Amino acid sequence: MSVGIDEISFYTSNYFLDLKNLAMVQEIDPDKYYQGIGQEKMGMPAPDEDVVTMAANAALPLVERVGTDAISTVMFATETGIDQSKSAGVYVHRLLGLTSRCRVVELKQACYSATAAIQMACALVARQPEKKVLVIASDVARYDLGTSGEATQGCGAVAMLIAASPRLVELDPEVGNHTEDVMDFWRPNYRSTALVDGKYSTKIYLQSLKHAWEHFCEVSSLAFNDFQHFCYHLPFTRMAQKAHKHLARINRSALSPELLDLQVEDTLLYNRIIGNSYTASMYIGLASLLENCKQNLAGKRVGFFSYGSGSVAEFFSGKIVAGYEKYLHGDRHQTMLEARSEVSYEEYLELYNDTDPVDGGVHTKTEGTTGRFRLVGISHHKREYIAC
Ligand code: HMG
Repeated sequence: MSVGIDEISFYTSNYFLDLKNLAMVQEIDPDKYYQGIGQEKMGMPAPDEDVVTMAANAALPLVERVGTDAISTVMFATETGIDQSKSAGVYVHRLLGLTSRCRVVELKQACYSATAAIQMACALVARQPEKKVLVIASDVARYDLGTSGEATQGCGAVAMLIAASPRLVELDPEVGNHTEDVMDFWRPNYRSTALVDGKYSTKIYLQSLKHAWEHFCEVSSLAFNDFQHFCYHLPFTRMAQKAHKHLARINRSALSPELLDLQVEDTLLYNRIIGNSYTASMYIGLASLLENCKQNLAGKRVGFFSYGSGSVAEFFSGKIVAGYEKYLHGDRHQTMLEARSEVSYEEYLELYNDTDPVDGGVHTKTEGTTGRFRLVGISHHKREYIAC
């Protein structure tokens, strides 16, 4: 029985900052961002938006199609936790009207945890093939102002249905892993922004790719040349281009730099204008590939490299299913991205400083969120969400 990704939908905030405006304030060449890290814009959540509202917005179209009874489990991957105990997914469960017989759990390991969720979801589906698992990844990437990470902020959520006989991607069971206790990027409980050793994190990312790939090669009969496309974790799009050339060198590939770029190019389009969305990043990259690749991808094999700082990495693979193009949400995604509002640098600072409300805080503004769900405020230490 094949198991994999049956449907994919994502959501990002209405607001973005063009990185040329950040470069102007910093008095540096905008090409450091446009070319050097390969990012043009970064998404900023509205004050009445958080990982819950973004997740519910991403998942709603899937639940509307498949119905609530089909979903046995919600797995919510995030590193932007809103509560130390309660899963953010339980709020989403209510907002989506899922049944009380659907289990919900939150998973954390930096940007990697959505991949762990997918692997566990595949095992659940194998046990109960008539049911589907809803995997949601939702994050807000925040760094301190004036740090090297600032230009790599962003926000977004992706929702995927994991099912038997999937309509988009059949996942192969063999995976390669690499786990190592390193301090390249982390966020202690008392901070709302991440700490990062930027250059070191890129080095660990590449080393982890090599180790995860080596493990993958030990357990899988697939080789580098069996893949037509590669989806990498996307902290910024240049990282994927560098990683892919690194993997090609390890495999002594004879492909030209141009052909190697083509193998990742279509995965980068959305992230370039959304920014890092941590757990959601690589899967928004997958949506970008499926929705923008001009060739028919049916039967093509895709390699995935998922990386979460700290660090856990996984290389896995999948095959695109014939007819996949009928089940995409590309038009809706394009409309959402084109309808976003650009903010000035001053407005960006206002959004940046308008952090999560404390107890008693209420968001009276409704002009922020354009999605269906909003965070109304926090009362008696309880978060209140509504559907608009
Ligand atoms: P930096 O150190 O300020 O940048 O920030 P730089 O000086 O290294 O410049 C970047 C590139 O731009 C360089 O190219 C420059 O040459 C080029 P490279 O040497 O890398 O090929 N450049 C220009 N190009 C064209 N025109 C110009 C120009 N000027 C310079 N005028 C850094 C870079 C990655 C350190 C920073 O963005 C950062 O700290 N980011 C946050 C950390 C990060 O994203 N790490 C990635 C790996 S870890 C990861 O992916 C996990 C993560 O998602 C978290 C999680 O798992 O939860 C972060």
